[in-house]
Amino acid sequence: MTIEFAAAAGSADILALLVHDGQPLAGPAAAADAAAGGALARAQAASRFTGGARSTLSVLAAPGVEAGHVLLTGAGAADKFDDLALETAAGQAYHAVKTSGGAVLAIDLSHLSPAQAARAGFAVQLAAYRFDKYLTKQKPEKLPSVKTVRIVTGDVEAARAAHAPMQAVAEAVHFARDLVAEPANVLYPAEFARRVKALEPLGLKVEILGEAEMEKLGMRLLLGVGQGSVRESQLAIMRWDGGKAGDAPIAFVGKGVCFDTGGISIKPAQGMEDMIWDMGGAAAVAGLMHALAGRKAKVNAVGVLGLVENMPDGNAQRPGDIVVSMSGQTVEVINTDAEGRLVLGDALWYTQEHFKPKFMIDLATLTGAMIISLGLDYAGLFSNSDELADNILAASPRVGENVWRMPMPAQYDKIMDSKQADMRNSAGRDGGSITAALFLQRFTNGVPWAHLDIAPTAWVKDSQRPTVPDGPVGWGVRLLDRMVQDSYEG
Ligand code: BES
Ligand code: MN
Ligand code: ZN
Repeated sequence: MTIEFAAAAGSADILALLVHDGQPLAGPAAAADAAAGGALARAQAASRFTGGARSTLSVLAAPGVEAGHVLLTGAGAADKFDDLALETAAGQAYHAVKTSGGAVLAIDLSHLSPAQAARAGFAVQLAAYRFDKYLTKQKPEKLPSVKTVRIVTGDVEAARAAHAPMQAVAEAVHFARDLVAEPANVLYPAEFARRVKALEPLGLKVEILGEAEMEKLGMRLLLGVGQGSVRESQLAIMRWDGGKAGDAPIAFVGKGVCFDTGGISIKPAQGMEDMIWDMGGAAAVAGLMHALAGRKAKVNAVGVLGLVENMPDGNAQRPGDIVVSMSGQTVEVINTDAEGRLVLGDALWYTQEHFKPKFMIDLATLTGAMIISLGLDYAGLFSNSDELADNILAASPRVGENVWRMPMPAQYDKIMDSKQADMRNSAGRDGGSITAALFLQRFTNGVPWAHLDIAPTAWVKDSQRPTVPDGPVGWGVRLLDRMVQDSYEG
């Protein structure tokens, strides 16, 4: 599917026109209705379509309109029509007609700004994501017929220019989604590292550490998680130097558990297949770095991915094992299924030690308890820095990736203490996401840090957003790209 910008709909098969909820046809919709002798307004009056968000009405063979298929597209309330509402309308228009048989969909936004036209093109790209490489028997009528989406705008050049960085972000989100969707027999740590290494032509520098190198660094927490797997653990280090030479970088750290069986503390069979997406944090960081490089962001950034597979095995880590972390702190492994914090403990320590970053943000599908706390449409935000947390919270509503700040009470910290070691990796169910965050905090060495527990949001099963089809979300790429752009560039 390609996006193009044009001054007119031309010979498009389908013409989508925005209608605000409860409002008469206006702008391009009013013009088309006039050309059709009022047929569009009559069609609307004959239906329940009022212009509500995520609703559409197809009008076929309207007289006086070149396109055989006019799609009245609900844009929601006129006074709530922001960029996200526009994204929803554009994405919904695509979904409504993607398998209709038409090849070219024009969305007439000539009454809006070129930046809004660009945004609509971006939304359609996100909406059109599919992961169907393993479907060998798809019925032709179920495959998208729409091959071109033409956004009609008053200033084609300006729309194209505004769309270029969005194109980079869309590609990055798709890259992250593909990583999240791949099953664990295909995407194991070394394959993940290869795919990240292949991004170097974008201008990223990528270094991959294997087990021998991590052993030398003393990263026993991370290595302990991977020691039951025949797949070699990896640490992928991505750098984007788009800022001033010598400026301390901003840093992003991702949990990349390519499959989480739970290890010896094995998970129940029911739903275990979901754990192919336990690398959603690492995918988001890789996607973010892709986005920053793709749009040549004016910032120095590093991404560090802890890539492991958590398996039960004769060589697997046992409950009760005591492990020395890279920081020197010792950890009693109570539950081998609380593995994400072990991986991140060493990855965070490595990141602050090697890069002396301005701040670190980690993303992780860390705890099932986060889903219990917030439900499926919010990620949990934990931070030792109000400034950093506020910058994330400010970006969130602009991209529709919801976060809720969680407390990190000092009086809960001692819950993670152990009698036999400096700390334990698991302690009861109470406040499970909070105690996990407090565990991570012990590896931040006081650097400004935020932790996003994305267990609720990495994968969506019943999507309410046209731009986020069911499946892998790539959650965090847009949020952090927006935050970097708004708070840390220029
Ligand atoms: N990867 C899981 C968390 C998870 C659960 C993510 C469901 C997405 C959906 C994590 O490694 C885990 O197993 N956490 C345990 C922690 C517990 C043993 C302290 C959990 O949530 O039960
Ligand atoms: Mn686990
Ligand atoms: Zn996990």
